[in-house]
Amino acid sequence: MLPTLRWYTKGIEIRYGLRVKLISRGLKGKLDQSFETTIYRILQEALTNVVRHAQANLAVVKGTFRKRGLDLLISDDGKGMDLGQIRQGTGLTGIHERAHLFAGKMTLESQVGEGTTLRIKFQTITEAST
Ligand SMILES: Nc1ncnc2c1ncn2[C@@H]1O[C@H](COP(=O)(O)OP(=O)(O)OP(=O)(O)O)[C@@H](O)[C@H]1O
Ligand SMILES: [Mg+2]
Repeated sequence: MLPTLRWYTKGIEIRYGLRVKLISRGLKGKLDQSFETTIYRILQEALTNVVRHAQANLAVVKGTFRKRGLDLLISDDGKGMDLGQIRQGTGLTGIHERAHLFAGKMTLESQVGEGTTLRIKFQTITEAST
């Protein structure tokens, strides 16, 4: 999955001039294909939002794999938002629903002028059965 992600984020850097820092800790072995796809789609939606809305210079994508779970973080140093004012579109709704399929919990932290951090916490991760 990491090579695919690197390729994807490199493309964003080139096309949009947004720096994307990719950090992965503790990933051992292979993940289940459908879980991998879920993570990929979540990152796509989140980074699309950063490109479209944040006016950020830097996005950080961090995956911390634990014995059982995975913490996923996507943060940016952009303009942030007033969480009470935004209209949730298909992006955030989709992220929430995809996370939910794997019992992941999504939280969004942001303040105007303070950037945005999206966290998804998976309590268990699905590993490939082969
Ligand atoms: N990284 C971000 N920085 C600043 N604002 C954001 C960020 N991500 C989301 N937003 C705000 O949250 C709103 C909802 O995001 P969401 O992805 O759900 O919908 P959208 O991007 O507007 O449309 P779409 O349905 O195409 O995804 C956005 O319109 C934007 O105002
Ligand atoms: Mg969106």
